[in-house]
Amino acid sequence: MKIAMASDHGGFKLKEHIKTHLAGRGAEVLDLGTDSEESVDYPVFGKACGEAVASGKAERGIVCCGTGVGISIAANKIRGIRCALCANVFMAEMAKRHNDANIIALGGRVLDEETAVRIVDAWLDAEFEAGRHRRRVEMLDGL
Ligand code: RB5
Repeated sequence: MKIAMASDHGGFKLKEHIKTHLAGRGAEVLDLGTDSEESVDYPVFGKACGEAVASGKAERGIVCCGTGVGISIAANKIRGIRCALCANVFMAEMAKRHNDANIIALGGRVLDEETAVRIVDAWLDAEFEAGRHRRRVEMLDGL
């Protein structure tokens, strides 16, 4: 699976940690930046990841900023993106099972690395339940 990743400075270290974890899982990572902890604007990076997933360059995406909030808002501005801000494993699992989230957002100043990795794994390992949830996801995509 090809996974696009992007962060601002607040999520940079977490992005790097998750990249290593994803490589260990055998995933291919498309790193869209940023490349350091120098201050940058999260909308640029949320947009880049959203566009990579929406265009099919990557199947899924993971975005990180300080809280995960700003970069999730940016990614969700791109048509076809369902980006879920996840603060725990339950949210991550349900984000796939019920919302078919194609991107998750994580907060580098909110989560420790171990929790973040467990969140990523829960989301990647979960299956979309479809059924009534498909109708709701279609409604989301029609908004
Ligand atoms: C940057 O300082 C911070 O505002 C950003 O990383 C993010 O938390 C915004 O939602």
